[in-house]
Amino acid sequence: MEIASGAHVLARYLNLTRQRALLDACRALVDGAVPAYVPVVRGGGKMHVRMLCLGRHWNGRTYRYEPTRSDFDDLPAPPLPDAFRSLAAEIAAAAGMTLDADLCILNFYDTDGRMGLHQDKDESPASIEAGNPVVSVSIGDTARFLFGGLKRRDPIEAILLESGDVFVFGGPARLRYHGVSRIIQNTAPPELDMNGRFNLTFRRY
Ligand code: SIN
Ligand code: MN
Repeated sequence: MEIASGAHVLARYLNLTRQRALLDACRALVDGAVPAYVPVVRGGGKMHVRMLCLGRHWNGRTYRYEPTRSDFDDLPAPPLPDAFRSLAAEIAAAAGMTLDADLCILNFYDTDGRMGLHQDKDESPASIEAGNPVVSVSIGDTARFLFGGLKRRDPIEAILLESGDVFVFGGPARLRYHGVSRIIQNTAPPELDMNGRFNLTFRRY
């Protein structure tokens, strides 16, 4: 469903088998050799997610991308798995767009997780101007996702993103404000046997 020009929600795009495979991959990554961590942002506050960047690291202190995690442990960002890159391309195509992703920000929200309203604008100006979409995939508990306009004060719509839903925003929607106001406990499919929510956003730098 196109909820705004360039913004598409594909409900239950991933079936349970694919959700399960992605969940296993996410769990292995966040507890792997280069683990997810809670970033501290510019103003000194902690984010309300555990984050792991793949392909390129987004530094929460500088709001810039870099190869190694200079705001945390200096470890190199793990590579973007090929299966993630092809999943992002497949989903973008399903929404009528194209994406050759070179990075993914993987976030885990526990039951208190949230993310303030922001724009995704730290990718290269060329990529943003080209309208390359951000492809977002949700696994686990439902999120109350906020989707606004190009200005912070524009009206905001709340959308429930459930497990397996994908959200693609590119072209004229690429710089729209968005965030997550809350996670709704105990809403993940029982088959996944999980609490909390993984969200993956695939992008091209
Ligand atoms: C993000 O904006 O980076 C994450 C959005 C989400 O968790 O759905
Ligand atoms: Mn974002």
